[in-house]
Order: sequence, then structure tokens, then C-alpha cells
Amino acid sequence: MRRNRRDDWARRLVAETTVSAADFLWPVFVHDAAAARTPIPSMLGVDRLSIPALVEAAGEAQALGIPVIALFPATPSDKKTAEGDEALNPENIVCRAIRAVKAAVPDIGILCDVALDPFTTHGHDGVLRDGKVHNDDTVAILCRQALVQAEAGCDIIAPSDMMDGRVGAIRDALDAKGFEHVSIMAYAAKYASGFYGPFRDAIGSKSSLGKADKRSYQMDPANSDEALREIALDIAEGADMVMVKPALPYLDIVRRVKDRFGMPTFGYQVSGEYAMIKGAIERGWLDPSVMMESLMSIKRAGADGILTYAAVEMAKALKAG
Ligand code: PBG
Repeated sequence: MRRNRRDDWARRLVAETTVSAADFLWPVFVHDAAAARTPIPSMLGVDRLSIPALVEAAGEAQALGIPVIALFPATPSDKKTAEGDEALNPENIVCRAIRAVKAAVPDIGILCDVALDPFTTHGHDGVLRDGKVHNDDTVAILCRQALVQAEAGCDIIAPSDMMDGRVGAIRDALDAKGFEHVSIMAYAAKYASGFYGPFRDAIGSKSSLGKADKRSYQMDPANSDEALREIALDIAEGADMVMVKPALPYLDIVRRVKDRFGMPTFGYQVSGEYAMIKGAIERGWLDPSVMMESLMSIKRAGADGILTYAAVEMAKALKAG
């Protein structure tokens, strides 16, 4: 076995998995503040960007060969309501960001989450009826949110809310308005995970959510067969691409999903995964190479691509060789 490991050329020759910039979708936080960038303390190296800073960053990502950016809004609390109305405002920060990026960097793909949590006072992804997240009332609003984003120029609608039936409903709503070309990437197997903590800091939904949790709609980390049922439904309803989230603690799910369905399959290296790797590197506890090792493991498990906050940094490192 060691002959194939002896020299660098041999190791490169027999490598089974490769990671390249074309595998990355880059999630970016966008805010309406005057400051071009405000740091997110729990995510070292990640800032919330103003729209002009986002446009510049999108240009850099495009030049590095990153195919898609994913936009996440940080919404001030005075714009939040119980029904998440700001999600439907065609002038909200997400829609303005889409239009600005499309005008300046037309060839980069734009993905937008569909879910109400950035816009609700209670921090849930849907609307509450008698204190519970109501499935069908939420789906009706999500369809309108998807349309507002498609009208602004979004290329990939990514429902992250985990309501039942939303992929089919959104597909119908898009098709009815002439948006047949807009894709759906379903957050198909999304677990009720503690690894989303830093993201909730970044978009300001953590304080809204308080002690509440999302276990009535996101999946139980104990379950694996259920992920296959979730994903089968989303595919039947019209998903073009499916996602497993988080990625690293759920690599077994990534593998089962890829083997079972053979769909374009994506892993989301979520904020907490990023934060623990970056935090340990900063303290000198781990070598910086562990970021790429982690991304490699997600591809090796069967993912066709990865949503990662480290996309630009890793694309630069790959380019430098
Ligand atoms: C919103 C959403 C979340 C993430 C992506 N979309 C958080 C949540 O469901 O609470 C998490 C991403 C991350 O942690 O990086 N529905």
C-alpha cells in the first residue's frame, strides 16, 4: 500500500476525492447598517456585509470560481413581526441584495432561504396558531416569499423551514407565475441541531427564539430512515437538489441519501461546525488544514457540493496550491 503513498505525485494520482472552488456555495450575511462590515464574534472571519460590500464580495467569489452565493438577512428587531411580514416586502434587504448582485455580477448563481425566522418576533420559521407553528398557514406565506425572491432575480429557492408539502406548493406557485426556470434546493433533511447557534447570533434570531426550540418541525438527530422519507417526499414534490444539514455530524445521512436517490446532494457545513474548527485553529489547538479535511469528508461521504462559510478562504488556498 505504501508505494502509492510514497511521493506527492503518486498520492495526487490515486486521490479518489477532490475538492474545488466549483463545489462551494458561499453563505453570506447581509445587513442594512451603514458599516460595510460588522464582525460576528462566534464566527471568526465572517462579517455581516452591507449591500455594496456584498457586491464586491460576490465579484471576488465569482473570480475565484465559486458558482453560488447564498444570502441571509440580518433584520433589525423593529422590522420583525409575529407573521414575518418583512419577508414579503419586495424592498427588503434580501431582494435589494439580489438585484444589486445580479446587476454587477450577473454570472454568479444566487440562492435564498425560504423561511420566516429572520423576520419573526418569536424566531420560528413559520407562523404560530395557538402557540404552535401552523403548517399550512406557513406554507401559504412561504410561497409568497419564494415569489418575491424569484421576482427579484433569485436563481435557487431553498426552503429551510421544514414544513410539510412546501416544496410542491412552492414549485406550483413559481410555475404559475412564469418562474419555471427557478430551481429548488430543498433543505430536505434538516436536523434540530445545536450547531446552528452562531447563525442565530448572526441573523439576530437567537434572542427572539429564547428558550424555544424547533423540534416540532426540524428532524430528531436520532433518526436516519426518516431522513430518507423526508427526502423522497421533497423529490416527489419537485426538488431539483437536496441538502443534508448539518454536514459533519450527519455524514452517514449524506451517504445514504446519495446512494438511495442519486440526486444532486449537498452538505451544509453549518455555523457551529465552522465556529468550532475556526476557534480551535485560532487557539493553536488544531492545524489550519482541518478545514479542508472536514470539507473533503463531506464530499467523500457523497455530497456533490458544500455550503461553507470558508468558501472564499478555501478557494484562495486551492488556487495558491
Ligand atoms: C433558517 C436557517 C438556519 C440555518 C440556515 N437557515 C437556522 C435555523 O434553522 O435555526 C442554519 C445555518 C447555519 O447554522 O449555518 N431556517
